[in-house]
Amino acid sequence: MTRYSRITGTGSYLPPGRLTNAELAAELALKGVETSDEWIVERTGIRARHFAAPDVSSSDLATVAARNALEAAGVQASEIDLIIVATSTPDMVFPSVACIVQNKLGIAGCPAFDVQAVCSGFIYALTVADAMIKSGSASRALVIGAEVFSRILDFSDRTTCVLFGDGAGAVVLEASDTPGILASDLHADGKYVGILCVPGHVSGGQVMGSPLLTMDGQAVFKLAVGMLEGTARAALTKANLTETDIDWMIPHQANIRIMQSTTRKLKMPLEKMIVTVDQHGNTSAASIPLALDVSVRSGKVKKGDTLMLEGVGGGFTWGAVILNY
Ligand code: ACO
Repeated sequence: MTRYSRITGTGSYLPPGRLTNAELAAELALKGVETSDEWIVERTGIRARHFAAPDVSSSDLATVAARNALEAAGVQASEIDLIIVATSTPDMVFPSVACIVQNKLGIAGCPAFDVQAVCSGFIYALTVADAMIKSGSASRALVIGAEVFSRILDFSDRTTCVLFGDGAGAVVLEASDTPGILASDLHADGKYVGILCVPGHVSGGQVMGSPLLTMDGQAVFKLAVGMLEGTARAALTKANLTETDIDWMIPHQANIRIMQSTTRKLKMPLEKMIVTVDQHGNTSAASIPLALDVSVRSGKVKKGDTLMLEGVGGGFTWGAVILNY
């Protein structure tokens, strides 16, 4: 019998510190940085974001999201045999957030590691977990996206600091004799490192270079739309489906204009696109599982629906996963 993987539970978590655009604009004005609710909404669709308290880390957010996913799946933490966390804002250089989450869940022994593919991280992590389940090396995985992007934002740069937020999303992915994940398509092109990066690194006991995010927003925008269309089409071909078979498009929640252009290019109705970016901004690797969880809990996404998840991020990295929920 063919072995597949299937999502059996979703969870998410946003830290309580919520800041509307107007509140953020007022805080930035105190530092002489000018922005407005109107500009942010018009250019990005973002209305609010959540920032974690200074003593809260990615593993804290990830652990709550994971517990919510475990509860939804009716699975005990002790039954998990693989943990993968997608993050670009880990608690420390090492060990991985996944190991810290494992300990916070009170379990030990199963493999646990992080995936670093920035905003495509969850797509990468889900693909790796799917492959490990299909190969028989895991049966019940926690796949998590968790970020505290507020820690790497330059609050004197209005072109980036208004875009991002903190949060986490998680799924339980289990072995199944019915599919599940139908197709996956992943890509990277390292020549674009410079257009979206946090160039700093730790060396000789010091941070060398800037530890804050820099982005050429227009370059990212132009690349993102084409790459997302290409990977979405490739995933459809691999799944032997067309866009009319997709019940819900769940894109990386970066910018409503990127999301809408991709969905339009695929000739899918915008009503089929899940939008949560207005509520939490760009939470990088957390945004797709966050949007998935919100749409499951709101009753939009139902058992048996066919979903397209797609993301793009620093690297450049990009990819898509098509699944039967
Ligand atoms: N508030 C007010 N004005 C602003 C702000 C702000 N927060 N930021 C920029 N501006 C100004 C600029 O200075 C510029 O002013 P000027 O015309 O006087 O020079 C004007 O607004 C227009 O700036 P543009 O850069 O042309 O604005 P654009 O329409 O391109 O929107 C944005 C900028 C939102 C960053 C857009 O390029 C974008 O969304 N890019 C993609 C970013 C993204 O999604 N990144 C993440 C994807 S990958 C990942 O998730 C990690």
